[in-house]
Amino acid sequence: MRIIVENNYDEMSRTAAGIVADEVRRKPDCVLGLATGSTPLGMYRELIAMYQREELDFSGIKTFNLDEYFTLPPDHPQSYHYFMFENFFNHINVPKEQIHLPQGTATDIQKACQEYEKAIAQAGGIDLLVLGIGENGHIGFNEPAERLQVGTHLADLTEETVRVNSRFFPSLPKVPRQAVTMGLGTILKARRILLLANGLRKAPAIKETVSGFITTKCPASLLQVHPDMTLILDREAASLLKNQI
Ligand code: PGA
Repeated sequence: MRIIVENNYDEMSRTAAGIVADEVRRKPDCVLGLATGSTPLGMYRELIAMYQREELDFSGIKTFNLDEYFTLPPDHPQSYHYFMFENFFNHINVPKEQIHLPQGTATDIQKACQEYEKAIAQAGGIDLLVLGIGENGHIGFNEPAERLQVGTHLADLTEETVRVNSRFFPSLPKVPRQAVTMGLGTILKARRILLLANGLRKAPAIKETVSGFITTKCPASLLQVHPDMTLILDREAASLLKNQI
């Protein structure tokens, strides 16, 4: 596991965007795994700016998002579909048919999850997967638990995650309690993983992620077994790491 510590959020975002941009230039038809949330917003802004300066061409890439809220339709302002189009896809030249997100409204969720896995495999697997991390160590919506699921599945959100994510909703009861998410197997099969984290609130989860032990109580700690894993942190998120850097 490589750990890069930047001075602040903007530098973290620029470094992450630089790595994604290098991948798109190296392999114009690469498959990107993408995350939502506050953390990657700066990285998306940087990538959009590179596209506008005509430094990057996204026309050949395919994308697969990590997760989507169960029951929210794609045009719902709090859905992850909506987030991704608003904050990234509408501003670059990736064709719509090359964009994939889990379906939160599928009538047969299990079948939709299997089809999502199949679509990733048919695309040749994920070349580069960008992750955020929850304060409780979750990745995607793989929450701390006794057992973790391997493939894309319908997951229950913890009370803590519902509370943390309620900042994006008009009120707590409006936050969905379930989500469709890639599983740990889907995530670990990506050829390369970048995990971004900023802010003091993420520091304990980052410490647990790199502690040297893996535990399903901190799903991100399983990333330690991945052969090409990079953490990009700001100083605050890295503040509880000592010997690891
Ligand atoms: P955040 O969410 O980027 O909004 O902090 C990350 C996550 O919960 O995975």
